[in-house]
Order: sequence, then structure tokens, then C-alpha cells
Amino acid sequence: MIEARQPLVPAAGKPLAIGACRAVTVTAVSEVGWWDTPRMMAEMKAGGGPAACQWDIRFDPENAAGSCSLIEIEGLDGSIRRILLDAGWNPEYMAERFRATGVDRLLRDGGIDFLFLSHEHLDHFWGIEAVLRLAPEIPILVPGTLREEGLAWLRGGTFPAAGIANRVPHRGTVVRMLPGGVHRLLEGIASVTFDLPILLDIRGEQSLYANVAGQGLVCITGCCHQGVLSLVDYAAAHLEGGSQAYGLYGGLHIAPFSGMTEEQAGIVRALGRYGFRKIAANHCTGAEAVALMRELGYPVVGGSGRGGSMDTCHLGNGDSVRF
Ligand SMILES: [Fe+2]
Ligand SMILES: [Fe+2]
Repeated sequence: MIEARQPLVPAAGKPLAIGACRAVTVTAVSEVGWWDTPRMMAEMKAGGGPAACQWDIRFDPENAAGSCSLIEIEGLDGSIRRILLDAGWNPEYMAERFRATGVDRLLRDGGIDFLFLSHEHLDHFWGIEAVLRLAPEIPILVPGTLREEGLAWLRGGTFPAAGIANRVPHRGTVVRMLPGGVHRLLEGIASVTFDLPILLDIRGEQSLYANVAGQGLVCITGCCHQGVLSLVDYAAAHLEGGSQAYGLYGGLHIAPFSGMTEEQAGIVRALGRYGFRKIAANHCTGAEAVALMRELGYPVVGGSGRGGSMDTCHLGNGDSVRF
């Protein structure tokens, strides 16, 4: 069943209250999108370049890993709710990551409230079969901007040009989260769908906000194609307490490939004005962007460099951060 959910639209100058939680813990189930970037770029070029549609491009599955995080929310009453953010890319690799982090058991036992898909990109979405093998009925919240191919993928679609198939059809509810405002998801947790065209002919990305009582706002993101400054500015303008920045987690898409331009370095510098007290940036943030954050004295959370992550500079596979 597919539903469409309309957002709440905050009135001008009247930020929206989203409630509060006691704490949020995020575990990077996997933050490695793929193993070899030049290979990934070469395959993208051969498939028609960055403007071509991802559903028509053949990528080598051997190069695929995937992005996926577990979010655990402790309520003011002590209750625990869980959200799985994204589904990774390579289903066999994801199954292994689920085993390594205990997400397999949580999915099997119904311990995860829903899967929240940040955006349609392959490294966040093509691993869906690994989730559905364990929880075929899990509710899935997708950006309302998802292509028809994305919805077909959930139903058990096959894409011969890309050489991929999802062999486990989803049997639960799919909620299309429409852009244009704020979605309250759980007490203290909200999401916003940003509508914009992004790489590989897809559209839109949704991100999460958590309001931690007595601390402030935590922004949680998949790839952050809307830009990290837009993500934080949106909260400051539209959410009650949104200008009290506390934490930042996820792929920030600042310098995702190799090297960092002056413009990208400018984004890292601009991030300093919000006064975040904990930054756990990984995935597509870029090693050089994280290194500059450290150089500027930002409170960057490092990792163990295990489980496929190669760098201790950022929060890696199997590592957790508590906000
Ligand atoms: Fe990504
Ligand atoms: Fe992405």
C-alpha cells in the first residue's frame, strides 16, 4: 500500500514544536558507499555520465558496499524507538553488516519501527533485499520525490540494463513524505523532504532532526545533497529550538570524491558559526573535509577504523555516537 503524507507547514516566524527526547544514539552500520572511487566514476561515465539515470547504468556489484545507520531514540519516559536510515547497496555485504551490528536480530524481531530512506541513490537503496529478507513488512518512509522506478524496486523490480533485481517484494506500507514542510515522526523526531535535482537523474533527499531535551537539535543525514548549510538553516528557521545546534551526523556531501575545492572548504568554515558540540561526519563528507574540521577545532567524533572503514578520523562501520 502506498500513502502520501502531507507535511505541516510552519507559519512565517512561528517555528514548529516537535517535542523532545532524552538521547539519540546513532550506529554507522555501514558508511562505505563503494570500495574504489575511480572505478565507480569510470562506470558512471561509461553509463552516460552524472546526468544519466542510475536505473540504466551497470555498476560492478563487486565494488558495491552501501550506506546505512541505526538510530535509537530514548524517550523522556525511558522507552526506546528505532529507525533504520537507508538500506545500503550490496545485499550480501549488507547482510554481513546487519549480522555484525545486531541489526539482523532487530529487523527479524520487529525491533525497528520503520526504514527511513534518505534518497534514491544506489548506495542507499539497492541493498533493500537484505532488509526485506529479515523484515518484508517493515514500513518504509520514502521521499515523496522518488521516481516510479524506485517504487517498482520496492515491489520486487528487475532492471536488466543495470543488471539488478530485488527478489523479495516489500509487503508493508510505503509512505511518500511530501516536500514543503515538516513531518513529525516520533516524540522529539521530525523529518523534512528537500526537493532538488541530484546526481544520476534522481530527485530529493529527506533528513531527520532530533530535539534532545536540555541539549538542543541533532541533524541526521544520509548524503545531504541539499547541502549541510541548508539542512541546518532550515531547522533554525522552522523548528522550535532549531537555532540551538547540538549534534550533526552522517554523510555531509562536502568533498565526496577526491580533493577539496576552495568553495567546499568554505562550507566547512561556515559550519563553524552554528557551534555544534558533536560532529560525526562520515560517508560522502570527504576525508579532507573532516581533516579541515579537526584543524579548525570542531568537536569531531572519530572511529575505530574497523569493519571495512579504513580511517579512524571519522565515525566508521560499527561505531556509535550518543547525542
Ligand atoms: Fe551516498
Ligand atoms: Fe547520494
